[in-house]
Amino acid sequence: MIEVRGLTKRYPGRTVSRNAVDGIDLDIPEGKLVTLLGPSGCGKTTTLRLIAGLERPDAGEIRIGGRLMCAPADNVYVGVHHRPIGVVFQSYAVWPHMTAVQNVMFPLQSGQKKVNRAEARRRAMEALEMVGLAEFADRPAPALSGGQQQRVSLARALTREPEVLLLDEPLSNLDAGLRDRVRDEIRAVQQRLGITTVFVTHDQDEALAVSDEVIVMDQGRIVERGQAQDIYRCPREEFTARFMGISNSLPGTVEAGGGAEETAEITLAHGRLRCLTSGETTVGSPVNVFIRPESLVLSRKDPSGRGWKGTVEFSIYHGDCWDYHVRVGDTLLRSRMYREKVGLSHGDPVFVVPEEETAIAIPAASAAAS
Ligand SMILES: Nc1ncnc2c1ncn2[C@@H]1O[C@H](COP(=O)(O)OP(=O)(O)OP(=O)(O)O)[C@@H](O)[C@H]1O
Ligand SMILES: [Mg+2]
Repeated sequence: MIEVRGLTKRYPGRTVSRNAVDGIDLDIPEGKLVTLLGPSGCGKTTTLRLIAGLERPDAGEIRIGGRLMCAPADNVYVGVHHRPIGVVFQSYAVWPHMTAVQNVMFPLQSGQKKVNRAEARRRAMEALEMVGLAEFADRPAPALSGGQQQRVSLARALTREPEVLLLDEPLSNLDAGLRDRVRDEIRAVQQRLGITTVFVTHDQDEALAVSDEVIVMDQGRIVERGQAQDIYRCPREEFTARFMGISNSLPGTVEAGGGAEETAEITLAHGRLRCLTSGETTVGSPVNVFIRPESLVLSRKDPSGRGWKGTVEFSIYHGDCWDYHVRVGDTLLRSRMYREKVGLSHGDPVFVVPEEETAIAIPAASAAAS
């Protein structure tokens, strides 16, 4: 549906010798929601703006529905108003001097595919219905909450029935409760209409929640892509593991397994552990093992004999869980416990028992290569 090849963009006058978008290839299948996920400045917005036709690339090609949208080498460039897209930005940009329905009608009453007023209102009402705002149609836009305004801008993007929906951090101006509701609304509408969507975010939880597929970006390039569940469960790259918040990392060596197998036995400084692998490890090779805090269970006793002996440094309370920072040898590990407070405090001896087959072993060479 959307095909991007060798997309490159450098902003003029930049002293940094780096492309904002650096030779990206993308294939976004029809009807799917794909997120671009990555830290600030990695090129997500630029990529989206290039697809939208709000920026011109220095090199590369973009096709939407098989039609060429831009190819600088051949002097092809289709402007934003002629692309079959709807765009929603972080700042929802609804027009304050209009009501909700007037905002949504506006794109239908301008441009080449202009329709008459009655038809524009009918279609705008349909779009407002879709985002659950029909009853607010005649309210002035400033009298709507942030979440409602963001849904108006979503309705406005949908009203021309675009082939592609482009969303740039559409939830980041909303407070936590509203963010979940608007997120669910976006995903529901997207699935109901089966509209091909590119969703930009720097929030990994948000990306996992809405996506069919996640594309992880860093410094203008794609680090890896995959189904949300796979990116979460077993990232292939260290950058992804860290970005997904897997904060414990330990060097180790492959003892057995790996290769074509999904798991490998890894020797760590503190003991052995069966880990998930992305299938590229070989026996004897160095790896870095990433362990989620919730996969490290703390216990005062160690009946299994698999525990690593440590000392509690400090704990942090999060409401639904506690994070314990435990020193094991030279390493500070983070363990997350969802039960009642385990009742451990600074200086207490404890065993850290790692869960089997949830930690991820990533070839150490991949760190050197990137
Ligand atoms: N108009 C511009 N002029 C010059 N440099 C720009 C411009 N817009 C973006 N950049 C630079 O290009 C790089 C990519 O920016 P981009 O806005 O695409 O990042 P992003 O991933 O969307 O980040 P964020 O999560 O902060 O929105 C950054 O280094 C940024 O400073
Ligand atoms: Mg951005």
